[in-house]
Amino acid sequence: MSQLMRFGISMEAGLLSQFDALLRRQGYTTRSEAVRDLVRNVLVEDRWGRDQEAVVGTITLVYDHHTRDLSDRLTEQQHAHHHAVISTMHVHLDAHFCLEVIVVKGTPGEVRLIADELIGTRGVVHGKLVSTTTGADLG
Ligand code: NI
Repeated sequence: MSQLMRFGISMEAGLLSQFDALLRRQGYTTRSEAVRDLVRNVLVEDRWGRDQEAVVGTITLVYDHHTRDLSDRLTEQQHAHHHAVISTMHVHLDAHFCLEVIVVKGTPGEVRLIADELIGTRGVVHGKLVSTTTGADLG
């Protein structure tokens, strides 16, 4: 972790009291930690807006494994992107439905492409990409 720096922030009283109420609800004990998290969120978002740096995404899929060829198609697509797919967790939710969480690392464009392909596969009943970071330079 790099050296901690101090700086002052001015804001309207009404805005600050809403911010403090939010921090209490979210369990923050200091404004500093909340501001650091806000800054990290903006930096991660910015990284996803550029296409050079590596990012990490988790793709969550829910599907009925009885849908014809669906499991095979989802596996094929992941093999086609094996360089980017780091790990996959499969949960048998009940007799029909499966939940899969696929961890992907690559450029934002690659990760979005893989997510769009998997989520858009016919038979997937719900899918979501969570955009996160490798963690580099955010400590
Ligand atoms: Ni299953």
